[in-house]
Amino acid sequence: MSEATANLSEAALLTLLQQAWAEHQRAQLTGLLLYRDGRFLQILEGPETPLREFFSRVAADPRHGKLELLADGPKPVSDFQDWHMSFACTVPGQCTQLPGYLQLEHLLALTKSTSVRHLLHEFLVADYVPLH
Ligand SMILES: Cc1cc2nc3c(=O)[nH]c(=O)nc-3n(C[C@H](O)[C@H](O)[C@H](O)COP(=O)(O)O)c2cc1C
Repeated sequence: MSEATANLSEAALLTLLQQAWAEHQRAQLTGLLLYRDGRFLQILEGPETPLREFFSRVAADPRHGKLELLADGPKPVSDFQDWHMSFACTVPGQCTQLPGYLQLEHLLALTKSTSVRHLLHEFLVADYVPLH
């Protein structure tokens, strides 16, 4: 989980997601990126070496900060097997043509790991203190 350093426009987020989708396909990584009220929640799954390499690269990105690693370790099941980078969109209808688009209401149903489901639920419903 991290905080965006500046407000990201919908277009900037989509560019980021499309880049990530292409990169992840190459590296056999799957996962999810959520953005809500200035905060990111990202889950990455995949072979350890490319995964750690990606994590270091993403951690150094100046578009976000206050990065917190919430969980790290082997996952018995893949929750996002077919998703090189899933995401949900705040503008209805706008993103449906993009690879990886996922309706928010399907997200929790799709997730098999209880711990990941809890994490997502917390992020999606929590009333955070406003950032700015
Ligand atoms: C919150 C956040 C999550 C990101 N997640 C990914 C990701 O999962 N995969 C990816 O390729 N890039 C991701 N990026 C973008 C990378 O940080 C970076 O811009 C991209 O990998 C290009 O790296 P390079 O400029 O070193 O080539 C993310 C950026 C942010 C701000």
